[in-house]
Amino acid sequence: MQRWIYHQTCGKKSKKVTTRRRRTLALYLLLCITLFSITFFLFPHNSFNPINNYNVLYVEPQLNFKDCDLSKGQWIRDERGSLYSNSTCPTIPDSKNCLKHGRPNTDFLFWRWKPEGCELPRFNPKAFLELVRGKKMNFIGDSVARNHMESLLCLLSIHDFTLSTSWTKFLVAGFERTHANKTGTGIYDLDIDKIDEQWAKDLPNTDIAIVSAGHWLFRPIYIHRGDETIGCIFCNLPNMTQISLKEGFKLVFSAAFKHINGCQNCKDNLVTLLRTFSPTHFENGTWNTGGACGRTIPFRVDEISQQSSDMEIRTSQIEQLEEIKSDSLKKKKFAVLDVTRAMLMRPDGHPNSYWGNKWMKGFNDCTHWCLPGPIDAWSEFLMALLRQLR
Ligand SMILES: *[C@@H]1O[C@H](CO)[C@@H](O)[C@H](O)[C@H]1NC(C)=O
Ligand SMILES: *[C@@H]1O[C@H](CO)[C@@H](O)[C@H](O)[C@H]1NC(C)=O
Ligand SMILES: *[C@@H]1O[C@H](CO)[C@@H](O)[C@H](O)[C@H]1NC(C)=O
Ligand SMILES: *[C@@H]1O[C@H](CO)[C@@H](O)[C@H](O)[C@H]1NC(C)=O
Repeated sequence: MQRWIYHQTCGKKSKKVTTRRRRTLALYLLLCITLFSITFFLFPHNSFNPINNYNVLYVEPQLNFKDCDLSKGQWIRDERGSLYSNSTCPTIPDSKNCLKHGRPNTDFLFWRWKPEGCELPRFNPKAFLELVRGKKMNFIGDSVARNHMESLLCLLSIHDFTLSTSWTKFLVAGFERTHANKTGTGIYDLDIDKIDEQWAKDLPNTDIAIVSAGHWLFRPIYIHRGDETIGCIFCNLPNMTQISLKEGFKLVFSAAFKHINGCQNCKDNLVTLLRTFSPTHFENGTWNTGGACGRTIPFRVDEISQQSSDMEIRTSQIEQLEEIKSDSLKKKKFAVLDVTRAMLMRPDGHPNSYWGNKWMKGFNDCTHWCLPGPIDAWSEFLMALLRQLR
């Protein structure tokens, strides 16, 4: 019996949809998708030069993949465009459906990531499903983690494989302070001694955990270790130790990785991937002061700063992972899904004003990514990484 399970946990709300389909129906779907892919490969839109595409049906990973650093490279033009559109993927959330909301340019769809030392194979649903058959993959993190899952869902048809997201703002336990009238203050307390149960409870039945989060740390946050208050990020109080953003990331990710490594009732072959920080691209202002991201083409390598705060956060995240990996008591498998540098180069990939939000008119989304869009490459990284780990 083929199964299609889509399980999403969001805060206290929990939705579970289980659909069982007869084998024939599943096979039929697979056939449709295969036909679609073949049609797509054979007749890539916007291409009048079939010679360039003569071998796309036989894309295979490079054999000497293991040593390739996927994170260093550049975006190069690719006339094949994306593997799906808003008419073939029914699960694109409205807020990511940029073309539906009137985004006028589609140039951003025609790029592929080219790592320096190798080729990154184009996403291949069949090959991907081979790699993860029977497994449960869980995206642990904030709304950008969910954005990745939504992208993967569009790239795949799912059978005998479970995708889920465990919503968490901070990975560790975090609570918002409230006013007397119960409205939120925007100020948070984190306890790095306590892991956020929202994802910790899902960890034992996970095979592949993709850990991210980060965007919620950009606000006033008091950090505690149990009863002891260590300090505060973005608080600026005279009587309180100031914690830098980088240090805050270190404390949170270190706690999360320690928890995973020490997880007693987790699966022995649990693989944990750190999906590094996803940069935002607000220009001429921040999200609430009219910032926007109206560019239509990627940055070149020499247009991004390797010393940017995004890269600093990424490095801090990776350092925590390396620390766990070098732990002599290390029991579990960890690896890095390092997307920060590649995504720094994609100021053109966000919804900007094309996200159809009725309540927040005038605010632009330069944090999440359009679907289809450059975030689809994360699943190509993911597929390559799972192959490297085998
Ligand atoms: C898909 O995008 C087109 C614009 O390219 C838009 O007209 C259409 O309404 C969208 N369809 C769906 C189902 O979102
Ligand atoms: C709640 O209290 C805060 C602080 O006193 C105030 O700024 C806010 O407007 C109040 N909100 C509502 C909905 O009453
Ligand atoms: C620091 O000062 C603030 C504001 O004056 C006060 O609310 C808080 O309790 C003080 N914290 C400590 C640890 O003394
Ligand atoms: C930022 O402002 C400059 C100067 O007004 C303008 O040329 C540019 O397009 C703006 N950038 C964005 C992303 O809107």
